[in-house]
Amino acid sequence: MPPHIDILTLFPRMLDGFLAESILGKGIERGLLTVKVHDLRQWATDRHRTADDRPFGGGAGMVLKPGPVFAAIEQLQTPGCRRIYLTPDGTPFSEPKARELALERHLILLSGHYEGIDQRIRDQLIDQEISIGDYVLTNGTLAAAVVVDALARFIPGVLGEEKSLTHESFTGKLLDFPHYTRPAEFRGVPVPEVLLSGHHTEIEKWRRARQEEKTRSVRPDLLT
Ligand code: ADE
Repeated sequence: MPPHIDILTLFPRMLDGFLAESILGKGIERGLLTVKVHDLRQWATDRHRTADDRPFGGGAGMVLKPGPVFAAIEQLQTPGCRRIYLTPDGTPFSEPKARELALERHLILLSGHYEGIDQRIRDQLIDQEISIGDYVLTNGTLAAAVVVDALARFIPGVLGEEKSLTHESFTGKLLDFPHYTRPAEFRGVPVPEVLLSGHHTEIEKWRRARQEEKTRSVRPDLLT
């Protein structure tokens, strides 16, 4: 069985295009992973399909109610699955984390309102909390998409060429080198000559130097 990912969200349509397009869409089409998006409101029991409510103790915004989330996760979870909540106060997401999640057979990703979700969900149902960066999104749906996209690259076969993984940023702890394609001159700007030389060791050397330069200037923290 390929890895399966359930995404729980109040905004399922936000993911329509994301799942159909590009490398991820092809991976799904080829059965290398399966992703199912669920509208949390389908587990709401009242007439208005209410999934959120005002916070006890006052304050702005709405909070995800425990009822629908408990019902959803209890229905979807399988033994050994990992239940992840996307939240700006979670553990920072990273490439090693993406690699690790790509090995899981079943993930449940819960995206909430940015204002929050009832703490009892976090205490009783969630195995892991992930933040995709130090900024606040209006809801966690795009964060769930980011996690799926990043981990899918580590599922064998999703990237056509395995090589494209090793050359890239972060895998080797250096940022990427500049890329060029045809034409060899565009609006007066030529491609660096070494790339046209056919001299592979020189090209490697040039690329490595550009990577180090870029990393030193943009992300010196990666070098320490
Ligand atoms: N939900 C809102 N902001 C988020 C973030 N930065 N990471 C993960 N989930 C979020």
